[in-house]
Amino acid sequence: MSKVVIMNHPLIQHKLTLLRDKNTGSKDFRELLKEVAMLMGYEVTRDLTLEEIEIETPVVKTKSKVLSGKKLGIIPILRAGLGMVDGILQLVPAAKVGHVGLYRDPETLKPVEYYSKLPADIHERDIIIVDPMLATGGSAVAAIDVLKQRGAKNIKLVNLVACPEGIEEVEKHHPDVDIYVAAIDEKLNEHGYIVPGLGDAGDRIFGTK
Ligand code: URA
Repeated sequence: MSKVVIMNHPLIQHKLTLLRDKNTGSKDFRELLKEVAMLMGYEVTRDLTLEEIEIETPVVKTKSKVLSGKKLGIIPILRAGLGMVDGILQLVPAAKVGHVGLYRDPETLKPVEYYSKLPADIHERDIIIVDPMLATGGSAVAAIDVLKQRGAKNIKLVNLVACPEGIEEVEKHHPDVDIYVAAIDEKLNEHGYIVPGLGDAGDRIFGTK
């Protein structure tokens, strides 16, 4: 069963409220989303492994810890996921960034992969998928399918706002994937928006409508 982690750190919750506010414009929305993604990245990377190395401080020789070279991959689901990449990259600048693009087939309503460019060594990397909104869960499930087909094994999903329907869908198809969110909202409405949500995350990041 997926572990679902709700990140209720006061800074995350404060910034999330500003992101939800319809009066927050694109410039502030982008900055806030980047900041929240960085704060969420702090928790998501908590289990990175360390090793001890020998160094010399100006005073003595000592042993001290560094990341043990575990490789990370950050995979935004296009397009709104792009808004969360830089925040996490600030914490782990050596991570590789892959992209997955999906559209919904108007007839089958199923997500179809239209673009993917992934790190060649994806099977060796811990993967962090980012997408601000976990709504129906269709795109998240399809993106995880794509990554698993290319050999990814250890995958985490990071969303700003989720709803119960989306979490259930991911858990049903990919119970090995842990989900990190800042909030689980009440429901999906008949137009596929999360309620109360924050509207269309992609439009708010890029100023489109
Ligand atoms: N995608 C969004 O950007 N917002 C929602 O509320 C649901 C899906």
